[in-house]
Amino acid sequence: MTLENKLGLTSSADLAREEERISKKKAVELFENGVLDTLTPGAFSALQAIHKYLFEEIYEFAGIIRTVNVVKGNFRFAPVMYLEAALANIEKMPQTTFDEIVEKYVEMNIAHPFREGNGRSTRIWLDLMLKTALQKVVDWSRVDKEDYLLAMERSPIKDIEIKHILKAALTDDVDSREVYMKGIDYSYYYEGYESFKAEEL
Ligand SMILES: Nc1ncnc2c1ncn2[C@@H]1O[C@H](COP(=O)(O)OP(=O)(O)OP(=O)(O)O)[C@@H](O)[C@H]1O
Ligand SMILES: [Mg+2]
Repeated sequence: MTLENKLGLTSSADLAREEERISKKKAVELFENGVLDTLTPGAFSALQAIHKYLFEEIYEFAGIIRTVNVVKGNFRFAPVMYLEAALANIEKMPQTTFDEIVEKYVEMNIAHPFREGNGRSTRIWLDLMLKTALQKVVDWSRVDKEDYLLAMERSPIKDIEIKHILKAALTDDVDSREVYMKGIDYSYYYEGYESFKAEEL
């Protein structure tokens, strides 16, 4: 079953490839054109703008809150019914210290506001908060993918692992395009890692 897309692709492999190619191209643009600097760090509107920018050529739902419930592995993300309230609460969370910022990131991952592409857009959103508050970003090339995913799976229960992993990878190199792009490079799609289910309401 392939996610409906603007490209008219019906094979999951083709969609995965095109999605990766286009979203990476858009991510570079987003970095180069200064749009990121105009967004309000920590605001949902910022995440929405990032998601829309990365995926608008691919999905109708780019930047739009999902209308289906989503499950990955054993984890059920925020039910659609509570999603808007959850997003309003997350937006109000503090974002001054490293711990506060990661806690906010973890909550946003639990909300998982979009049908697809949450990981990539939320990592950019995280870096924007870190850059603003601490003049640091995550060097994603120093984060092991498997460790990251396991820590994210654990994060709704215990956030100590993801805090540890991200803290160890912080860098002052906030203007490096290479460091930034590594966060986008993170998709598990190809590795068949993803177990994913969505329910139409
Ligand atoms: N079982 C889980 N429990 C909690 N969070 C999870 C779980 N599985 C994945 N995640 C988080 O969800 C993200 C993937 O979400 P989604 O597929 O919407 O975004 P993506 O941009 O396509 O993915 P990716 O992060 O692989 O690039 C992962 O990066 C991780 O942070
Ligand atoms: Mg995905």
